[in-house]
This record gives sequence, structure tokens and C-alpha cells, in this order.
Amino acid sequence: MLIVANWKAYVDDLAKAKKLVTVSKRLAREHQSIIVIAPPAPLLGALAVRPSSVAFAAQDVSLSSGGAQTGEITVGAYKAAGAAYALIGHSERRAQGDTDAVVAQKLAHALTNGLTPILCVGERERDGEGRYLTFVREELTSALAPLTPKDRARVIVAYEPLWAIGKTSAFAIDPHDLTEMALYIRKVLTELLPGKSAASSLVLYGGSVDPDDARVLAASSGIDGLLVGHASTDPRLFSLLVKQLA
Ligand code: PGA
Repeated sequence: MLIVANWKAYVDDLAKAKKLVTVSKRLAREHQSIIVIAPPAPLLGALAVRPSSVAFAAQDVSLSSGGAQTGEITVGAYKAAGAAYALIGHSERRAQGDTDAVVAQKLAHALTNGLTPILCVGERERDGEGRYLTFVREELTSALAPLTPKDRARVIVAYEPLWAIGKTSAFAIDPHDLTEMALYIRKVLTELLPGKSAASSLVLYGGSVDPDDARVLAASSGIDGLLVGHASTDPRLFSLLVKQLA
């Protein structure tokens, strides 16, 4: 089970960040969990000290390859600071203007430059006619179609419905609905990926995952891991959550 801890902008204190990493490393060792931490970019270099039982991710990447572009953080700089993964197309970046076309470019850019992308997709709301399925299909297709078939198979998909993000477990998705969506995403991946590789693609769920719902969500068939936002920034909650999954 892959657990991605998306700290968003919740953590801006280095002492707190180091404590969270220490706790996460212990949890990863004790429970054989695969934990990937996505801290705010400036903290990355101080946290991603090797050897480490956890891995690190960028929360976003710039399309810049370097040069006279003040404020941009290139994939190369993320890698130098210790990132191996990158969140791409998180709804909070899409809300800041990342269109499907930009997300597709960032996905290709991360892959070409050696970061494993975690592509975030998810509908804003659920409707009775199943339009949310088409929406997720279109997000997946527009991001993956421009890639080579081999690169498509390297993308981790995180299903994060916007209506479930940043709330409490009472608002997380119903496990039955999650199973349905996971199967649907894998069906779309089967159409886009070469051979049988969709079967081994990783599909994660994110949106109000906390210690109360982690186990039941993770048990949904077709889910290979969880993307955890606010609950990953509290050492006590995150420990409880990882133990639930062990
Ligand atoms: P949340 O965030 O766990 O705080 O809902 C998840 C995410 O947006 O990645």
C-alpha cells in the first residue's frame, strides 16, 4: 500500500517538518509501508537526507527547463533536493490555472526528466447521469494520450474527487462508489496503456482520508494506496492512519 503525504502549505516550520519525517520513517520501517512525502518545496532539501525509509515528492513542477525565469522551480532542482516523485494536476493547482493542456505538458516534462508522476484527477461534483465518469475519462485521456505508450504505464493515478477534499471522514467517498471508480479508471487505462500493463498501474484515492476511514477505503478493490492531505501533517493522526493500514 502506497501512502502519499501531501503536506500542501500546512507545514512551514522546519522543526515540525523534521519531526513528521522522523515519525514517517519509523512508521515506514515498522509497518513496511511505502510512504512518499510531498513537503513545501523549500523544505525538501533539509528533509530528504539519505539513506531514508521514505521517499519525497514535489507538489507540482514547473515547465521551465531553467534559465532566466525568476521564481520557477525546475524538475532538475527538485531532483537535486531529493524528490523522486511529483504530484501533477492536483485540483488546487488546477484551481490556480493549470488547464488539461498544461497538466499534460507537466506530466510529460516530469517523466522526461526523471520524476515519477502522480497524476491527480477527479470530478467537482457527482451527478445522477454519470457525467462525472466522462469527466474523469477526459482528464485521464488528455493527460496520458500525448505520452508514448511506455511512458503512460509509468504514471501513478490519484483519484481525488474535489467534493471530498479537505473535509472529515464523514465526507470521504463511499467505499462502494470508490470501488466502482477504481474499476472505471482501470478500464480507461486499459484502453490507453500497452498490453496488460494497466493491471499493474497504481491507482490511489485521496480526499478526507483520516484514521477513521483509511482502512475501509484502502480495502476497496482496485485501490493501491492513499493520498493523504491534512491528516498527514499531524504526527498522531498520521501514525494512527498508517497503523490502520498495516
Ligand atoms: P485532504 O487532501 O486529505 O486534506 O482531503 C487530500 C488532497 O487534496 O490531496
